[in-house]
Amino acid sequence: SAQGAPLSVREYEPLARELLDPVHHDYFAGGAHDEITLRANEAAFARLALVPRILRGRGRPDLTTDLLGRRTSMPIVLAPTAFHRLAHPDAERATARAAASTGAIMIAAMLSTVAVEEIAAAARKTAGDAQLWFQLYVQRDMGFTEALVRRAEDAGCTALVVTADSPALGRHVRNDRNDFHDLPPGMVCENLRSLRADEPGHVRQVDLSPELSWDHVRRLRAMTGLPIVIKGVLHPEDARIAADLGMDAVIVSNHGGRQLDTTPATVTQLPRVLDAVGDRIPVLLDGGVRRGTDVAKALALGAAAVAVGRPVVWGLTVGGQQGVEQVLGMLRDELAHTLTLCGCAGPAELDRDMVAREDPRW
Ligand code: FNR
Repeated sequence: SAQGAPLSVREYEPLARELLDPVHHDYFAGGAHDEITLRANEAAFARLALVPRILRGRGRPDLTTDLLGRRTSMPIVLAPTAFHRLAHPDAERATARAAASTGAIMIAAMLSTVAVEEIAAAARKTAGDAQLWFQLYVQRDMGFTEALVRRAEDAGCTALVVTADSPALGRHVRNDRNDFHDLPPGMVCENLRSLRADEPGHVRQVDLSPELSWDHVRRLRAMTGLPIVIKGVLHPEDARIAADLGMDAVIVSNHGGRQLDTTPATVTQLPRVLDAVGDRIPVLLDGGVRRGTDVAKALALGAAAVAVGRPVVWGLTVGGQQGVEQVLGMLRDELAHTLTLCGCAGPAELDRDMVAREDPRW
């Protein structure tokens, strides 16, 4: 455009990089170890081709989608990402307003730098029907876990997203090199502030433990009536266990390449998970979604929706609320355009026959 404004989601990344402290840019951009999975997520979308249908007279597509029993404006969700204050002073408030004004579901990260109550208030003030899901790292201290769940419930969150791919913190070479292991002075994970009278002002450390098991998830299931979504599923057998335990959805995710390196790209693994549980519970996907065509490929394979992580952070860095709105708007418009070009009236009309693998041997 005239001012050199970004014309695609990827164009936000270099703009964000210019604005960020290099150490914080590395935190947002980086992945585990050799960053093989980080690159694989995007590369796998590029290897898939869309096979459009023609002359079906479907008119303009309708993007509205039902997720966990409620209607949302589009099958694109904001993935939970920590530490938004590193990106913009308005932090998670700005992200929440942008999601609300777009009618998109925001998954608020437990490790947010604004408390969940404030995120919810910002969202609701923008749109009364804004939907917020709360991402939870289950803490071995189940009393503290329950306190977090009650806070999320009381703030009006309508689902819990349990991140299950983090029995330990991923090793990021970039953070090690930069000696980045903590938030700068003046910023904390506000949801970890103790509400106990005997520890005033105390901020807890997050507990990521290899002792966590399905048993903790069972206890969580008994603790709350909220729908529970398991995030970080890659193995079809784990999706089956989640469905058997009464989970309401799973998210096929490798944490954006930030946990175990060399896991498969999420869109490569998606069909296997769908084959296991696709007829029982909704399967969402995140990792590497940068274009409306990426969204359409995941939906055509059978995903109920996708989530986006880094693009939201880029938009937030570049333009606060407006920047996030622009990124979400671009993805929405590209998805609508893609559906039009595929001859589809809506996401539900995409099917597996409309995705083909671009095999270099053919
Ligand atoms: C994340 N992600 C993440 N996930 C989660 O469950 N809890 C968290 O606190 C975070 N924090 C976080 C920080 C940053 C900077 C990034 C980039 C990612 C993972 C996130 O929810 C999602 O799985 C990926 O970001 C999806 O990949 P893309 O869209 O970034 O490629």
